[in-house]
Amino acid sequence: MKIAIIGCGFVADNYIAMLAEHTNVELLGVYDRDAARLATFCAFHKLNAYDSLAAVLADERVHMIVNLTNPSSHFEVTMTALQAGRHVYSEKPLAMTMAEAHMLVAEADRRGLGLASAPCNQLSDALATLKREVQSGRLGRIVYAQAEMDDGMVPGLDWYNWRSKSGAPWPAKDEFEVGCTMEHAGYHITPLVELFGPVRRVTAFNACLVPDKGRDIGVSIMSPDISVGLLEFDGGVVARLSNTILAPANRSLRVVGTEAVATLTDAWEYHAPVRISPTGARFWPRVVRKIEKKLSWLLPGLLLGWPAKQVDGRRVPKTAGGHRMDFARGIAQLAAQIESGAPVRIGTALALHVTEVTLALQSPDAAGRAVSMQTSI
Ligand SMILES: NC(=O)c1ccc[n+]([C@@H]2O[C@H](COP(=O)([O-])OP(=O)(O)OC[C@H]3O[C@@H](n4cnc5c(N)ncnc54)[C@H](O)[C@@H]3O)[C@@H](O)[C@H]2O)c1
Repeated sequence: MKIAIIGCGFVADNYIAMLAEHTNVELLGVYDRDAARLATFCAFHKLNAYDSLAAVLADERVHMIVNLTNPSSHFEVTMTALQAGRHVYSEKPLAMTMAEAHMLVAEADRRGLGLASAPCNQLSDALATLKREVQSGRLGRIVYAQAEMDDGMVPGLDWYNWRSKSGAPWPAKDEFEVGCTMEHAGYHITPLVELFGPVRRVTAFNACLVPDKGRDIGVSIMSPDISVGLLEFDGGVVARLSNTILAPANRSLRVVGTEAVATLTDAWEYHAPVRISPTGARFWPRVVRKIEKKLSWLLPGLLLGWPAKQVDGRRVPKTAGGHRMDFARGIAQLAAQIESGAPVRIGTALALHVTEVTLALQSPDAAGRAVSMQTSI
């Protein structure tokens, strides 16, 4: 399927790095409203530049738009593309409000177009391994999951100098104003929904604990820099999801069964090890855990865990941020679904549901209130 990218900023380099791996998509060109950025990006990657969104949409060969603009532009760009009869794969969030997200989905459905949203790490090889373990029954009955999406003390890091491969600065103002929950919660919500089905209810707390970050670059909206949510799934599993740009980096997902715990060590790594350790309910596993605990000062925590499960799939190269993530996999999946009837793994229902759960976590009146979800997958 022939595609065009709108938005040539920090994340766009990560997409270009992986697109060539997916032979069912072909990039015809890119557009950014910032002419200097567009020129730099096209020169760096040797790509064709369009001079407007209208010019992209006038190109009859383009079947899908990949929307990599800032969250505040997502609705407008996606809606314009849908109205021009194009399938859309959008960076997250699908939109900044549920009203807008519903409008996009209605437009896509009305026109019979594909619409999906990042993140796509539920398609990672590591998650496939974790899913196999969950479905095998070896963990026992799954009752609980713990998901951490902590990025370190970002306000104090050297983000002023972070650059993508083609030189785009990390969009600090946008990141701080949109907030880490809107930016990152999806990296756990999508895998959790893939494992346990739709979320029925969310109980959340959020706060902005470092309100003075980025004032020197004009940050004015103080979005939560911490959110903690309890997600109740249709099947009865409960997950605790934490998002911060304050706590030490930890992007692990632990799935707790009555017999064993499976740990996906990093949701951003497509080949992260999946480690299985017994819950300690039986004698020998309990002894192993005790030894593990005693020696933990000597050896890095997980080293003593039971052997990691083999994670299959071709290794993904590192992004500028140092993570092995395949950003383009969602585009390829959507294109395959549309063109060849591949099984539906991403799409409007998932994008809408992830947006609703994310907004429930970010909601200004979240504190301790249980919010019933209106969407499902
Ligand atoms: N920064 C990251 O590490 C990262 C990682 C994963 C996902 N994302 C997501 O990717 C998206 C883009 O983030 P980014 O970091 O690349 O931001 P960015 O600010 O670096 O780049 C966004 C680009 O989109 C362009 N743009 C905005 N509105 C436009 C419009 N209406 N028409 C044409 N061009 C437009 C801007 O000029 C800018 O060059 C966001 O949704 C973000 O949540 C970012």
